[in-house]
Amino acid sequence: MQLRTAQMKFPSMNVGAGVKERNWKIKNSSETKAPGRKLQLRTTQMKFPSMNVGAEVKERNWNRRKKMRTYLVTGGAGFIGSNYIHYMFGKYGDSIRIINVDLLTYAGNLENLKDVAGRDNYTFVKADICDKEAISKIFAENDIDRVVHFAAESHVDRSIREPEVFVRTNVLGTAVMLNCARAAWELPDGSYRENKKFLHVSTDEVYGSLPEDETAFFYETTPYAPHSPYSASKASSDLLVKSYMDTYHFPANITNCSNNYGPYQFPEKFIPLVINNALQGEKLPVYGDGKNVRDWLYVEDHAKAIDMVQEQGRLFETYNIGGHNEKQNIEIIQIILETLQEMLSDDDPRKALVTKDLISYVEDRKGHDRRYAIAPDKIKKEIGWYPETMFKDGIRRTIQWYFEHEEWMKNVTGGDYQKYYAEMYKN
Ligand code: NAD
Ligand code: TYD
Repeated sequence: MQLRTAQMKFPSMNVGAGVKERNWKIKNSSETKAPGRKLQLRTTQMKFPSMNVGAEVKERNWNRRKKMRTYLVTGGAGFIGSNYIHYMFGKYGDSIRIINVDLLTYAGNLENLKDVAGRDNYTFVKADICDKEAISKIFAENDIDRVVHFAAESHVDRSIREPEVFVRTNVLGTAVMLNCARAAWELPDGSYRENKKFLHVSTDEVYGSLPEDETAFFYETTPYAPHSPYSASKASSDLLVKSYMDTYHFPANITNCSNNYGPYQFPEKFIPLVINNALQGEKLPVYGDGKNVRDWLYVEDHAKAIDMVQEQGRLFETYNIGGHNEKQNIEIIQIILETLQEMLSDDDPRKALVTKDLISYVEDRKGHDRRYAIAPDKIKKEIGWYPETMFKDGIRRTIQWYFEHEEWMKNVTGGDYQKYYAEMYKN
């Protein structure tokens, strides 16, 4: 029955995966973690013979809740963070607790989390990661086991116009998160409380730009050479995490991932911008010659990788995560236009709008990195993760999601976005 439920929740999951999931639950449940628990329960009943079975179940649930692993997710109302939270509840259900701390900047949206908002094991805290008091209060009031740190300013074009906010959030914010986690987890002898881990979510952009030569890739050993204020601030935050690992033996991992796409992505980013504009018959702005290459990964594959690194990765290590899916920007536009044509029904008035005539070459982005490409060899070899979603499937799923969430798109593209868009694309 349990297996069937798991299979219904994850239709692509085979029986083997169902067994794995059940084994995971058993392995991580409080019963197996605390040997003698059953004995303890029996003893309780002996002490209080009038205690009925309901009370026993209640006590067991209470003990389990007390021991439930608690995640502190930063930036969980953004694109990848919200997908990660959905992924984690889909996988672990009621056996984990998630506290999501997010400032709800223009990029954060609680609508992304409305499906999980009512869960008993989910809490939202509106706070700034640069606010030391607010963050230490969360650590003081909760026994945090895992930090997954997504919160950041994330858009390169915005960083070119307004670099300071990137330094504040990405560098200072990461320093505050590290400091508060260390203060909560470090023991007087310099070791750490058991099984506490911090995962810093970063980007492949810290490695700079690759030549067009298809044999060159980013490895974990590639020297950092960021070009934009965004990637420079992320590189700085990575170095801070590395410094904590080296100086304080702080229990952390860093992941550097390639470009993500999928549901809930804010339409300032290339793929949702192209989908949204095409459906409205608006121009599709292509920077420069359109031949810059990005390595696109479906966001759920990223969420899975983060979880696998935190559970199976070696502490203090960096893991590169990538889609093995390099495409020029102009190819992405062509694929999206073709897929939209296939997916829109003949009587949909938008079908006539979606044509190559919308493509509009515009001035290049300043300092535009030519090519990103990850070699995910290490994560594949050590952890067994690999990108599961083929681009042709991922892009269909993404477009389908945007079809079904017109209201979401309308809400996020109102007001401030219009102003940003008008200023950014004024030529
Ligand atoms: P996003 O911009 O969609 O979301 C960022 C979230 O952080 C938002 O919810 C925002 O409200 C929150 N936030 C911003 N400043 C904050 C602050 N001071 N305090 C608390 N919360 C704050 O970003 P994303 O695309 O989901 O990226 C998440 C992380 O993944 C970032 O660290 C980014 O560098 C990294 N990353 C992104 C990609 C990608 O393709 N999008 C690829 C690799 C790595
Ligand atoms: P983006 O989604 O901003 O991600 P990043 O710059 O972090 O890789 O952009 C992806 C690619 O698409 C990048 O090469 C810039 C390009 N691009 C355009 O050509 N037009 C646009 O309007 C945008 C937003 C991006």
